[in-house]
Amino acid sequence: MILSRYNRILLWGFSFQENMLEVDRGYLMTKIIYINYDGDEVSLDVQNGLSVMQGAVKNDVDGINADCGGAQVCGTCKVIVDDKWIDAVGVPDEEEEAILAFGNAPPNCRLSCQIKVCPELDGLVVYTPERQY
Ligand code: FES
Repeated sequence: MILSRYNRILLWGFSFQENMLEVDRGYLMTKIIYINYDGDEVSLDVQNGLSVMQGAVKNDVDGINADCGGAQVCGTCKVIVDDKWIDAVGVPDEEEEAILAFGNAPPNCRLSCQIKVCPELDGLVVYTPERQY
C-alpha cells in the first residue's frame, strides 16, 4: 500500500504522540536510586536509553560532576554500584577500567556515564562518593 505524504505525516504524528504518552505513563522510565555520602536517598524515574549520569545531572543529584559530559575522559561521574546490582550493570570496558584504575576507585565503582538505563535495571541502587576529585 502506498501512502500519500499527508498520510505518512499523520501516521508519524500519531506514532510520536503515542510514544510521548508512553513516556508520560512511565513505560519508558526506569527507577534509579541514588544515595549520597551522607545517606540521603533520591529515587528517580529516568528515561530508558539515558545514562545513570544523565539521570543524575538532569535532576541535580548531588555528588556527580560529569565534567566531560559523558565522553568517558574525566572520571568525575563515579558511583559505587550496590552489591545486588553489580552483575546487572555489566563489566566496564578497557577505557573505563583505565580511568577507574587511575583514580584508585574502590570495588564496585563504575563511571555512571557508562551505565545505560534500561528496564532490567529497575530499582538500581548507586552510591555517590564523598567527592569526585
Ligand atoms: S562524565 Fe566524564 S567520565 Fe563520565
